[in-house]
Amino acid sequence: MSRKSSVTIKFHNGEDIPLELHKVRVVQKLNLVPIERRLEALYEGGFNTFRLNTKDVFLDMLTDSGTNAMSDMQMSAMMHADDAYAGSQSFFRLQKAVEDVLKKKYFLPVHQGRAAENILSHAYIKKKGDLIPMNYHFTTALAHITQYGGRIVELLYDEAYNISSSHPFKGNLNVEKLEAVIKETGVENIPFIRMEASTNLIGGQPFSIQNMREVRKIADTHGLRIVLDASLLGENAYLILQREPEFAGSSMEEVISIMTGMADIVYFSARKLSSSRGGGICTSDRAIYLEMEALIPLFEGFLTYGGISVREIEAMAVGLYETLDETMICQSPQFIAYLVNTLTANGVPMVTPAGVLGAHVDAMQMCKHIPQTQYPAGSLTAAFFLTAGVRGMERGSISNQRDENGNETYADMELLRLAVPRRVFTLSQIKYVIDRMTWLYENRHLIGGLKFVYEPPVLRFFMGGLEPVSDWPQQLIAKFKKDFGDSL
Ligand code: F0G
Repeated sequence: MSRKSSVTIKFHNGEDIPLELHKVRVVQKLNLVPIERRLEALYEGGFNTFRLNTKDVFLDMLTDSGTNAMSDMQMSAMMHADDAYAGSQSFFRLQKAVEDVLKKKYFLPVHQGRAAENILSHAYIKKKGDLIPMNYHFTTALAHITQYGGRIVELLYDEAYNISSSHPFKGNLNVEKLEAVIKETGVENIPFIRMEASTNLIGGQPFSIQNMREVRKIADTHGLRIVLDASLLGENAYLILQREPEFAGSSMEEVISIMTGMADIVYFSARKLSSSRGGGICTSDRAIYLEMEALIPLFEGFLTYGGISVREIEAMAVGLYETLDETMICQSPQFIAYLVNTLTANGVPMVTPAGVLGAHVDAMQMCKHIPQTQYPAGSLTAAFFLTAGVRGMERGSISNQRDENGNETYADMELLRLAVPRRVFTLSQIKYVIDRMTWLYENRHLIGGLKFVYEPPVLRFFMGGLEPVSDWPQQLIAKFKKDFGDSL
């Protein structure tokens, strides 16, 4: 580690715990329903945590998408939104925020991140077989690229697939492989190179500025464009401050502007980046802007709202500025590091080093006895909801799509993701998660597999239905009762 965060506060008793630099002024009541009800809820939701009803969920760690806590400044900005179909002042405030924070002149609003992926794929994937090299795919990016006939190639270094690692930048794009792919494929078949900040599906792992510089150099040599998925840009920049010695003395603003400065196009989900809703695409190149402009009214809405409510546009503008505040952005990564490091110390196999967005449990390791054909990550996700009332997300083979011949494509990693949205949970809630996950780890032999009973053709993980291959949930409940008695 090259630097201690400017917001690290030491405890006299030597404990190493993250201290919240905010106070809670609006609260929402939670319920922890009994384990028998949690099992019923699983059956009702097809053992798929996307299909649970939040009345049955205690801690919602499904995602940080649209669930980050908003600041008082964001809430108040929503009150002076300018409702207008065209030319809204809210839009111009957002455009200014994009220019100030992301340093891009032209901005196209879209209703969320995947809408940006649709517009980009529509605009740039011109023929079947066009190839998008990237550090790693995200589910919706892949779905849109393939929908338009494109293909992807994932170019990570081997270390990225090493779940237990101390490499600071597992999201780095493999530049040697990139050179080889360009040579093999031909630039005319590569619409752009995609770099995802804080690579989501490998455990929220960042790339370094040094790596992006190398990618930029190759892109320049071949006249290729770089598209930056900036949905988790703030966290990637924060980890660069922590882990890349050259930037130990830099500010969030400096690092963010260097990163976006190296991309021809930046797009993002505002559900993540700015703790609001919505999304956007931005560039400083007018020609690029014009290539996409007409698609916004076609798919999203008029150019000054793009399918986003004006209130959310105001919250997004303020949220973008707040991304530059290290005391805000550090909270989730610090809580995640606490969760990952404590669980690792308890023997639970975790993705390390701790990344952003959430803590990731290695289901392939924890549930070695469950074959990939029975979805270890999905099984662990269901088992943890049953054990704790905590809703995580499967990030493994269920989240993969079948190939063009309809065959399963098994994921490189089978992960249970426990998202830690910004400034939502307290430390005692995180301690509860640690306690229950450690118990489940000690009883992992009781977890069994799942099988599909309903499988939608696209993005199957959202609405798919599964069922357990045996009566393992009942056995897990029996052990829970034995160990916890009447406790919820
Ligand atoms: N890119 C990345 C890196 C993402 O993490 C997401 C969403 C998207 C694009 C799509 O954005 O949801 O606004 O359409 N990730 C969410 C998650 C869904 O839970 O990780 P969206």
